[in-house]
Amino acid sequence: MTAKQLRQKYFDFFKTKGHAIIPSASLIPENDPTVLFTTAGMHPLVPYLMGEKHPEGKRLANVQKCIRTNDIDEVGNPTHHTFFEMLGNWSLGDYFKKEAIEWSWEFLTSPEWLNLDKKLLAVSVFEGDQDADKDDEAVEIWKSLGVLESRIAYLSRKENFWGPAGQTGPCGPCSEMFYWVGDPDKVPDSFNDDNDLWVEIWNDVFMEFNKKEDESYEKLTMQNVDTGMGLERTLAVMNRLDDNYKTELFSNIIKKIEELANKKYEESKEITRAMRIIADHLKAVTFIIGDDKSVTPSNTDQGYVVRRLIRRAIRYGRQLEIKDDLWISKVAQVVVSDYADVYPELERNKDFVVDQLNQEEAKFKKTLEKGLKEFDKLKSDGISGKEAFNLYQTYGFPIEMTQELAEEKGIKVDEQEFKKELKKHQELSRTASAGKFKSGLADTGEETRKLHTAAHLLLAALRKVLGDHVVQKGSNITVERLRFDFFHSEKMTDEQKQEVEKLVNEVIKKDLSVSCEEMSKDEAGKQGVLGAFEYGDKVKVYSVGEFSKEACNGPHVEQTGQLGHFKIVKEQSSSAGVRRIKAILE
Ligand code: SER
Repeated sequence: MTAKQLRQKYFDFFKTKGHAIIPSASLIPENDPTVLFTTAGMHPLVPYLMGEKHPEGKRLANVQKCIRTNDIDEVGNPTHHTFFEMLGNWSLGDYFKKEAIEWSWEFLTSPEWLNLDKKLLAVSVFEGDQDADKDDEAVEIWKSLGVLESRIAYLSRKENFWGPAGQTGPCGPCSEMFYWVGDPDKVPDSFNDDNDLWVEIWNDVFMEFNKKEDESYEKLTMQNVDTGMGLERTLAVMNRLDDNYKTELFSNIIKKIEELANKKYEESKEITRAMRIIADHLKAVTFIIGDDKSVTPSNTDQGYVVRRLIRRAIRYGRQLEIKDDLWISKVAQVVVSDYADVYPELERNKDFVVDQLNQEEAKFKKTLEKGLKEFDKLKSDGISGKEAFNLYQTYGFPIEMTQELAEEKGIKVDEQEFKKELKKHQELSRTASAGKFKSGLADTGEETRKLHTAAHLLLAALRKVLGDHVVQKGSNITVERLRFDFFHSEKMTDEQKQEVEKLVNEVIKKDLSVSCEEMSKDEAGKQGVLGAFEYGDKVKVYSVGEFSKEACNGPHVEQTGQLGHFKIVKEQSSSAGVRRIKAILE
């Protein structure tokens, strides 16, 4: 089975159950300062899981591009990825546990669909705690489908209670499905989630709780379903492969790395691991930089994650003795051509991705050289934790690279002291971000809503002042400010900035109402609605008089008068051909 067939089967199946297929949202969450990336299909749907009406109805399904960095140390094994695709189906207060479980089972085992061997499947359910009951109901449903009791495990909150995606929001107990990837003749009678040969492929979450800021749980007014099936893992299982990197979702990428390194994937354990890490990390950064709401390498937030992934890939490239200058963008181009039919934004943003990767590689190779010189100056009787930390901090050397270099010289690194230094540093940055997240959450409602409306006005004003070539490249909103990236190649003059501020403030003064209507994508196209191509067949369009008309999922203020006074605090280059504005409301 190919990835294309698997995605299509999933959509076809859920269409027969009355679901609308919606497009994948951006990898960069808008208006959610608590999370860096979209980590699951439910993430962009949070407002709808909380009760807002979705334009496509109550039953939705899609394939969502996701980034998770919490398991980054596990990347290198056969099943973990930083970037992955999640197939998902949702009930927004419509069907619940019974249908969700029955349909999962039908899709997995029916000869018409995936036709997986029932004897090789196992499931887990929530064991219950003070906040939510033991899920006997799910067990009864599984049993009614013929699943043996010995193949059903009650697991704790850590495994079987999902969410929220950020720090607050919709969540609930879940039931996971596992497939035995070992020898089918040796499948154990009972299920044990410690055994790696049981691979988790799908998770049904019964979302009936809302986690609040004080960490307590309240029942939602509606019962939702949120499911997530890992495309890479399921594809491997369907093709009886014990390594996701052997599926077509990785094979061309690995082939390119083999070519660059002049080595074979299975030559040694170290080579396999290095190639997996390079393939995974470069695929992830290609998707992040190639997103329409692109993030580029930097030293903060999402940009830091991008930088770290790139540098780690370059380090492993060095381990594989890849000699080519600027090689990482060559791998990225394979990712683009493999995925462009499903994610056309990669093709649209390809030159940008290549350019960003080339710049970052050139930059790191400079500090890499300086760092290596610095390393050579260190005493030959061992490297202190502080020195290792300096290499890490100043020259971007991951500790593993320092250790590797030290090993070549036959000296040791004081890892304990390094860890202490790192921890000190991480605690500092965690405190800083905790502060930020807290303020982000304290008043997400009103302040971010205002800034979000201001972002629409800003885009419309920029197009009036600079021209219609201005399109949004990305935006990020915290309670304090909005950050807005857009295509434009020159620095804005003071006059242009003042003109933009003036236009926005005029609209605010007029106290226009912000209206929202649903329309078809075609109709949106005819009306010249901005940004409609990112959405499905039906789009929500927010209009402010005749001034701005933009496709968006909201939320927005009702009247522009609520915004106060709009001010641009900074205008700078974000990357080649892209400018960045930071603006506030006072
Ligand atoms: N949100 C759940 C998960 O990520 C199901 O989609 O596993």
